[in-house]
Amino acid sequence: MQPLEYAGTGLELDQKIILDAAVGAGKATAFWAEKLSEIRASSRIIGVDIGLPREWRRRIGERLGENIKYVELVEGDIFNLDFLADESIDIVNCADTIIFLNDRPLRLLQAFQEFKRVLVSGGHLIITSEYSNKDLDPDEGQWRRWHLSKGIFELMGKTWSVEPEPGEVRKALEILGFEITGERDFPPVKIDNYLEIMDDWQNTMQEEIKNIPWEERLRKTIAAEVNKVYKRVAEDGYLLGPAKYVIKARKELAGGS
Ligand SMILES: C[S@@+](CC[C@H](N)C(=O)[O-])C[C@H]1O[C@@H](n2cnc3c(N)ncnc32)[C@H](O)[C@@H]1O
Repeated sequence: MQPLEYAGTGLELDQKIILDAAVGAGKATAFWAEKLSEIRASSRIIGVDIGLPREWRRRIGERLGENIKYVELVEGDIFNLDFLADESIDIVNCADTIIFLNDRPLRLLQAFQEFKRVLVSGGHLIITSEYSNKDLDPDEGQWRRWHLSKGIFELMGKTWSVEPEPGEVRKALEILGFEITGERDFPPVKIDNYLEIMDDWQNTMQEEIKNIPWEERLRKTIAAEVNKVYKRVAEDGYLLGPAKYVIKARKELAGGS
């Protein structure tokens, strides 16, 4: 069973409002929309992301096909979901995103607090996230790609991603009064459309490198390193998706039971 399938098991999906935070390339959005389509649900998905440029919207639309009818895409920040009323959402799905919400101690807690605010009493929060790649073979293209990305952002004084461990996520949810209802681990998987992903990665990194406020020589060296890693992954013939975990939680019922 894949993480998304596990995420979707055991939930009543008709007449629900689902918040997909964040949409990214729309993999999880497509999964939930397909689930709704299978049962002809009268439910809808609000897909939020901090950046939804036209090209991404086009790709997401292409991925979803006619199931896009279930989805409203909204550009917005998870840390401030002001456009959503308190207790207006039945299910929050947060797939492969918390590593980007954790750039400072306790920041993740703030995102979870916002999920709690918008969830109805007894509503569900499903977190899918990645284990850190720190134990992977340093000669792997995947490993080099991830750490080089982090390094490039470090040089700009920014954080690319921080992988919270499941224990930390559980603790944060419990502090906020969520009840943990399920948890499962998933091993790393080989990703076959790696060249498409690497093309995006190479373009993004080359653009970011231009902003590194260090001397030109350093920027050129790092740009050459990005190209080397690209080549290395192409030779490996695959990308490795990291091991993942899914944590399912429920907002406490009004009255505290
Ligand atoms: C790896 S992608 C999500 C993958 C997506 N759930 C899927 O299944 O395809 C992570 C996304 O988080 C978004 N993001 C990062 N910080 C955010 C924030 N504060 N608010 C909203 N979106 C954010 C990024 O723009 C990016 O699209």
